[in-house]
Amino acid sequence: MLLKNRVAIVTGGAKGMGRGIALKFAEEGCDVVVNALHIEGAKKVADEVAALGRKSLAVKADISKNAEVQDMVAKTIKEFGKIDILVNNAGGVTGAKGGNTDTANEEDWDKVINVNLKGAFLVCMAVIPHMKKNKYGKIINVSSMGAVSPSVSVLHYHSAKAGVLGLTLNLAFELAPFNIYANAIVPGPIETPFWDALMPPGPDRDAFFKALSKKEIPLGRMGTPEDIAGPALFLASGLSDYVTGQIIYAAGGQPLSSHAATFLSSGNDGGNDEEAQSQK
Ligand SMILES: NC(=O)c1ccc[n+]([C@@H]2O[C@H](COP(=O)([O-])OP(=O)(O)OC[C@H]3O[C@@H](n4cnc5c(N)ncnc54)[C@H](O)[C@@H]3O)[C@@H](O)[C@H]2O)c1
Repeated sequence: MLLKNRVAIVTGGAKGMGRGIALKFAEEGCDVVVNALHIEGAKKVADEVAALGRKSLAVKADISKNAEVQDMVAKTIKEFGKIDILVNNAGGVTGAKGGNTDTANEEDWDKVINVNLKGAFLVCMAVIPHMKKNKYGKIINVSSMGAVSPSVSVLHYHSAKAGVLGLTLNLAFELAPFNIYANAIVPGPIETPFWDALMPPGPDRDAFFKALSKKEIPLGRMGTPEDIAGPALFLASGLSDYVTGQIIYAAGGQPLSSHAATFLSSGNDGGNDEEAQSQK
């Protein structure tokens, strides 16, 4: 049990990676506050946590709204008396219509930055005083590969997720003397409901994932919530007690180019192949 007697808040915990992280933590002995935008989803996962023998609390809160964040943290303290671990996982493109220089607009920019960057900031600000009091805390922020190596143009989302990395590094620097750790996970493409807003489930999406896996992911497959829960567990537990201010790429080998897609491995050795030699 790597998280025995620990208490974690997982934002956006109703589905996808957040659910995977909440359940992995519960398996390791952690009590979990499951936050979501809608209480039904949060309750469902909180019940799954309870079924694993841990205490849980479902809290509806929009992390981009400070009053709701403060309320979530107050409820957590009332129920559990402390917060050891915070996973800032909630996020997404939040209904923004487009994201390149032709389609992005101010309204979408504000919406996406508010959820993905300001939201993470607000939850940190509400939780950190409690961590300082206990002289212990593990903060794990979820960024995105698009923040450092975009393969499509989504200006607001990628800017927000790059901001999450800056937030993480600054927190790690400031809070190390308080025994509070801050690290970030950069997921590659992970198969979750995140993609529903971009492409409905079905054969076209399956074909897209297959092509993406082959061309852009060295390990040759999409990630799963479990693939993110593992690194999150490492960063939440004592296994990482000399690790702060770090960025873990949980991305199937990205941003390395896939060997399947490189110039050399596609059969062209840069002009030294037999055909090229014979033409000389
Ligand atoms: N799936 C991917 O390929 C991928 C890749 C890189 C990064 N990410 C990031 O990883 C995190 C988890 O993504 P996922 O794939 O599990 O997505 P998901 O859509 O399956 O789950 C996201 C969760 O966040 C919640 N949420 C969204 N806005 C919120 C708000 N304002 N307040 C509270 N909760 C809110 C949603 O309700 C949902 O439960 C997100 O931050 C996402 O941006 C996802």
